[in-house]
Amino acid sequence: MPELTYLNGEIFEAGEASISTNDRGFIFGDGVYEVVRSYNGKLFGLEEHLQRLQQSADAIELKLPHTIAGFKELIETLNNKSKLPNTLVYIQVTRGTEPRNHLFSLDLKPNVLITIRTLPAIPEEIYTNGISTITVHDGRWDRCHVKSISLLGNILAKHEARKQGVFEAIFVREDSTVTEASTSNVFMVSDGVLHTHPANNRILNGITRQFVLGLSEQLDINVAVQPFTRKKLLQADEVFLTNSVQEVIPVVTVDGVTIGNGKPGTITNRLMKAYRQLAAQGGLQ
Ligand code: PDD
Repeated sequence: MPELTYLNGEIFEAGEASISTNDRGFIFGDGVYEVVRSYNGKLFGLEEHLQRLQQSADAIELKLPHTIAGFKELIETLNNKSKLPNTLVYIQVTRGTEPRNHLFSLDLKPNVLITIRTLPAIPEEIYTNGISTITVHDGRWDRCHVKSISLLGNILAKHEARKQGVFEAIFVREDSTVTEASTSNVFMVSDGVLHTHPANNRILNGITRQFVLGLSEQLDINVAVQPFTRKKLLQADEVFLTNSVQEVIPVVTVDGVTIGNGKPGTITNRLMKAYRQLAAQGGLQ
């Protein structure tokens, strides 16, 4: 079986499972999720993703129906079953199924959905030429550290990026602080120092972000985990984004302003290469 869907203990052909219209994920976006990528059959950072799933579930008082070890075994079994070498694994847990009511029953059984897909093609040009971005107002809620399936703010930001003919939208708060992007974390290099927003309630603490910070230490790159403004971002020598699907993505324009010399920067390229090596070898040794 290649691509497949798992729903509450049963395995289906990809996309063939169905769920009640009373699922609280469908009605309210009441649930949490993770996205993990496999390299040559091996899931990269699965343990870290599952720990974050647990943290997200705890933050919304959703009791996961499996332990981290239980999820790990289940996901690895499904991924092996697919026999696909390079996959995108989506894990979603919603609070459960019951007639619509803001108040949820305290003994509700969560719904677990896992899909295994072939990794969609990622054009190599995004890494060699870099991407263009816009900034948008960050008007999301104040629990962005929760990987919630309620993603309307992110979806509208990504749509705005498409409308303006660019790849990604970077969120900027009222006070001009750059937080993250619609589907990724944001880094910038200024005077040789790598900057990124602290892991608090304003951003999702990306697993790729954490690996990149670890690699920066190994590579002796100075890091400042501190908020920075849109003005600083536009004046940066280098900018890049990170996520588990597209890894390290160089940014060459923000709001039409060219970053550095308009090409992926030196530190960006070093980290892009180091991250690919890390993913290929399966993690920090
Ligand atoms: N999203 N910030 C946001 C808002 C994200 O949606 C993501 C990833 C990240 C990066 O997290 P990580 O490095 O753990 O992938 C940061 C995934 C890819 C998604 O929603 O599809």
